[in-house]
Amino acid sequence: MRQPALKPASTPFKRTVPNKSPGDKLKVKAEQSPNPVRGDKKSRPPGLKPIPDMIDFNKPKRGRGNSKLPQLLVDKALLQKMARKNVDDGAVTPDYSLDKKTVIHLLNESLATEIVCMLRYKRHSYVARGIKGRMVAKEFVEHADQELQHADQIAERIMQLGGTPNFDPVGLAERSHAQYHSGTNLQEMIRENLVAERIAIENYRAFIQYLGDADPTTRRLLESILAMEEEHADDLTDLLEI
Ligand SMILES: [Fe+2]
Ligand SMILES: [Fe+2]
Repeated sequence: MRQPALKPASTPFKRTVPNKSPGDKLKVKAEQSPNPVRGDKKSRPPGLKPIPDMIDFNKPKRGRGNSKLPQLLVDKALLQKMARKNVDDGAVTPDYSLDKKTVIHLLNESLATEIVCMLRYKRHSYVARGIKGRMVAKEFVEHADQELQHADQIAERIMQLGGTPNFDPVGLAERSHAQYHSGTNLQEMIRENLVAERIAIENYRAFIQYLGDADPTTRRLLESILAMEEEHADDLTDLLEI
């Protein structure tokens, strides 16, 4: 008897796509459906901007300077004319874009803060007693000298900007951001000085942000003072441990 022809056994998996690498698979997918971002307007989801096919590496990047030269750098006659305008303003040239009065006012507040901090450190350096107190007092003296130095630098800049530094003791505490705390014991003195430094740090950071690129000289001065205040705060944090 003739045996019925055996059906060829069906393979469990039928391979229709040749073995491809993950990269090839992605390529196939991209060919099948257009890139929703790079594709035409219809296939792009709303709100997504198209990605340019070519990236222009010669295009100037934001924040790395301006490719266009400012007019004052190419027009010597204009530069000379501007410098002659309001010559009594000294260092403040017509291109100073900030409100000078506001900058001077803020600098005078910082000046008052430095004077108040200097006075507080001075007092604390005398009243700190005991072995620990003598050690801490040395640090207070050093800080007081540096606050006075800051006050001088700020006063000098106020003069350059055409203002008048305010050293009037009347209203000094009101003009200052930091408070004058006498402190009853060593720990309290250290803590109060630390609080004052933190106030100065926050104030200088905000001031620097306000100045931006419009007044690099004042900004650099405040940046150097800020670095010193951070150092003071760090010293005081260490002293809290003793
Ligand atoms: Fe200071
Ligand atoms: Fe300080």
